[in-house]
Amino acid sequence: MATVPVSLAGSFQGSFAYFTIKDRLPQILTRVIDTLHRHKNEFFEEHGEKGIEAEKNAISILSKLRNELQTDKPLVPLDDKLPDVPLWNQYLEYQQNLLDGNEQPSWFQSPWLYVECYMYRRIHEALVHNPPIDDYDVFKEAKVHSFFESQQAIIALCTYLQELLKNIEDLDEKQLQEEFFKLLQVSLWGNKCDLSISAGEDNSQKASPLKLLDNLKTFILVDDMESIWSLLINSKKRRTSKDVTRVDIVLDNAGYELITDLILADFLLSSKLVTEIHFHGKCIPWYVSDTTKQDFNWTIKQLQSANNRWMSRCGMNWEGSIKKGVLVYHDHMFWTLPHEFCSMAQVATDLYTELQKSHLIIFKGDLNYRKLTGDRKWEFTVPFHQALNKFHPAPLCSLRTLKSDVQVGLKPGQGEQFVTSEPDWMICGKYGVVQFDASL
Ligand code: F6P
Ligand code: MG
Repeated sequence: MATVPVSLAGSFQGSFAYFTIKDRLPQILTRVIDTLHRHKNEFFEEHGEKGIEAEKNAISILSKLRNELQTDKPLVPLDDKLPDVPLWNQYLEYQQNLLDGNEQPSWFQSPWLYVECYMYRRIHEALVHNPPIDDYDVFKEAKVHSFFESQQAIIALCTYLQELLKNIEDLDEKQLQEEFFKLLQVSLWGNKCDLSISAGEDNSQKASPLKLLDNLKTFILVDDMESIWSLLINSKKRRTSKDVTRVDIVLDNAGYELITDLILADFLLSSKLVTEIHFHGKCIPWYVSDTTKQDFNWTIKQLQSANNRWMSRCGMNWEGSIKKGVLVYHDHMFWTLPHEFCSMAQVATDLYTELQKSHLIIFKGDLNYRKLTGDRKWEFTVPFHQALNKFHPAPLCSLRTLKSDVQVGLKPGQGEQFVTSEPDWMICGKYGVVQFDASL
């Protein structure tokens, strides 16, 4: 196997990984503790003294976890009963084996991707150990808040889509392509709104998303929209009435970003560019704002019951598409493991086989990009295909705003130019990529 560069890690002093582990992750833990504390009365009302006791225990486990992180303690095996525990613990052993005999994997010394995922899994473990509050989503409140904060932008998108659907049958190929590019970019920039980069602070979409697109175009560093369009339009032209064209969307954040993904999905189905959309979400609360099944269902319900008629029409239509089986929601524990995607074929063969049925997989967001590229210190000009390290279930693309210091597939000099002019270009969420890889 060709050699791959080292993983990003907190051991690189001054790096974004270092800053994240030192400051951002403890802040997120503090917010989680605070959320539990603020909901104490609710736990009491629902479960009596048992609820209060569980809240106290969970808080004490989480405070201990924050201390382990801040003092760079060794990572310990997971010990709840969930089915992913053996995989997590094997991964810890694997990390251990990469080190010299007397060293142990720890928060600042191990790969950043691993320890950051590990923190979210340990938060979940703290809850799992404490029934009756074991299925409480500590990030739900923040996700709901960000959904409501983005109301105006959501209304603008739902209205636009419903107007577009009125005469979608009459659009010629060029017009269809223009609409596709628009909604693909809306979904790309929807990824600015995640609550992990802001350490849980509100980060919602306030401005009207469609009006911003022209101004944002110059911030797309890799633009493979034409290739994605060719794939879709050619498959539409070749399709016979029995054929299926399937697009998979590996979701990222709930709230506004999820709406942009649903809007894109509806457009793809309504324009008959595709016949099936498969969404993939997380099984447990993850990276603050990532979408779980509960978030997905809640979002559709919110839209259905909204006062705005375009929003409710969207909600009704999506519910209908789910019932018809043309919009399908999946989750799989692989998405909340620390593994790079190049190990999916071995670690989660069933998921890999499922994704092989797709004509195009769209990976949303920064964390998915980190896992696609292994979160390594790649040179900026390394081809995307090479960084994928043989991960290729189907043609795939990444729609991602840059919020961590890994980026591949740039033109010579493109990245270097930013390094001097805009030192935080990779972490500020201002830039984005639409990056495609077709080859097997
Ligand atoms: O904290 C690490 C990180 O991966 C950031 O790089 C990014 O801001 C965030 O978490 C997740 O972003 P996204 O929601 O786009 O995956
Ligand atoms: Mg996210």
